[in-house]
Amino acid sequence: MNPIAPQKEEVRKFWNADPCGTRYLEGKEDFDAHARARYAREPYIFDFAQFQSARGLKVLEIGVGMGADYLEWLKAEAQASGVDLSAASIERSRQRCEQAGYQTDLRVADAEQLPFPDDSFDLVYSYGVMHHSPNTPQCIREARRVLKPGGQARIMVYHHPSITGAMLWLRYGFLRGKSLRQSVFDHLESPGTKTYTCDQVQQLLDGFRDLEMRVVFSPGDLLLHQPSERFQSGFYRLVWKLFPRALVRQFGRRWGLFLLITATKAS
Ligand SMILES: C[S@@+](CC[C@H](N)C(=O)[O-])C[C@H]1O[C@@H](n2cnc3c(N)ncnc32)[C@H](O)[C@@H]1O
Repeated sequence: MNPIAPQKEEVRKFWNADPCGTRYLEGKEDFDAHARARYAREPYIFDFAQFQSARGLKVLEIGVGMGADYLEWLKAEAQASGVDLSAASIERSRQRCEQAGYQTDLRVADAEQLPFPDDSFDLVYSYGVMHHSPNTPQCIREARRVLKPGGQARIMVYHHPSITGAMLWLRYGFLRGKSLRQSVFDHLESPGTKTYTCDQVQQLLDGFRDLEMRVVFSPGDLLLHQPSERFQSGFYRLVWKLFPRALVRQFGRRWGLFLLITATKAS
């Protein structure tokens, strides 16, 4: 990999210190607990990823994190490669897959500069990754470059506006005059996290056809997980308890954080 820009180094440091999903691990290597918690809170992943559709296909997963979905590609008998900027995440993914008895092709690599030739993959999958990288349009161009013509991209990026964004705005933005987007940029996971409207995604996916998008709730939108260290006071515990999940599910659908995108590389 070429020398890394300081902004991206911050992103890498963040995920090396706390590989994605660490909070769902019950023991350091309890990957089953991680998978159970992940798929219980985000059941739409199976419908979106369509792991079984990839049997025999060449798949690239960009940003494997702790490797739950990467393992599903292997179980589905895809020829799956995976990359992540964070060496700690790649190490966890490798450990997880080897424990499950699979061989891996996992590399530390940058989504903005993928180490693969043009037209290499039938399917490129990336779940919750590209908005963390400083140059998200470049990640999309790279995904398109390595896809074969007619190949499919399945990408999740963070959506604007969202309930998570609104909560971060109330917590960090409101009194400091920050916008919803800036509150997410500064306070959601790694520094510099971006969010996109459906119209913006349409522009980002120039060069793709058959674009489909769906907004879904993240676990954070519905406060489904335990409050993190930042939200431990009695006030926040009360918010978690009283949060009107049923109402939000019913009326807040357009305010989900996760934007699920499928698109085909034009020939
Ligand atoms: C929110 S986690 C998602 C991980 C996994 N896809 C999941 O759903 O659990 C974001 C991941 O993106 C990775 N990432 C961020 N920027 C990246 C880049 N430029 N290239 C590759 N991976 C990147 C991080 O290291 C981290 O593992």
